[in-house]
Amino acid sequence: MKILEEKILKEGQAIDKDILKVDSFLNQQVDVELMEKIGKEFAKHFENKNITKVATIESSGIAPATLTALALNVPLVIFKKQPSKVLNDEFYSVETISFTKRNTYNLIASKKYLLKDDNILIIDDFLANGEASSSAMKIVNMAGANVAGIGIVIEKSFQPGREKLEKLGVDVYSLARIKKLEKGIVEFI
Ligand code: G4P
Repeated sequence: MKILEEKILKEGQAIDKDILKVDSFLNQQVDVELMEKIGKEFAKHFENKNITKVATIESSGIAPATLTALALNVPLVIFKKQPSKVLNDEFYSVETISFTKRNTYNLIASKKYLLKDDNILIIDDFLANGEASSSAMKIVNMAGANVAGIGIVIEKSFQPGREKLEKLGVDVYSLARIKKLEKGIVEFI
């Protein structure tokens, strides 16, 4: 998505070979107009997949996922991160490792809002190692629902996330695919 790549080049900061800071439009401040375009782009790509709900992971996935749900005219379900195990049979819970943040959390989702007939589009801000997205897929599968696809705003293609998700047989659609990061340099595929 050209407008997103331009925004990344203008405002993104590669702080080292692994991390791109996008605080000005995605993580701290949100460019809502850009999110609207992102939502429409995801909706266009997945329009023939009979999506019944969009799901995302708190917190930075919420903005792009909200605008995608709006464009598809379906509800948004938020999966939450809890530091400790949730011993509660109202929730699905999957232990998840974040290599970027070097922590482990439990990704949880209310059983009430995931039904077996649901066809879910998962949206997230970054794809790095694919841990968050694969845990989100596990939760959808625990509900007996279907994962219709995964939409990612920024994919770091030099990390193994895409490969991991494709092995699980899911359609991954990323709006910006980064081939290489270096302090002050961002290169797209
Ligand atoms: P993975 O799911 O693909 O394996 O990624 P990982 O756990 O390693 O990423 C954990 C968190 O770090 C996620 O945020 C993700 O968005 C963020 N992240 C990963 N790479 C980058 C990057 O290059 N730049 C930025 N800005 N963030 C990155 P999170 O913990 O879910 O935080 P938030 O959604 O509450 O902001």
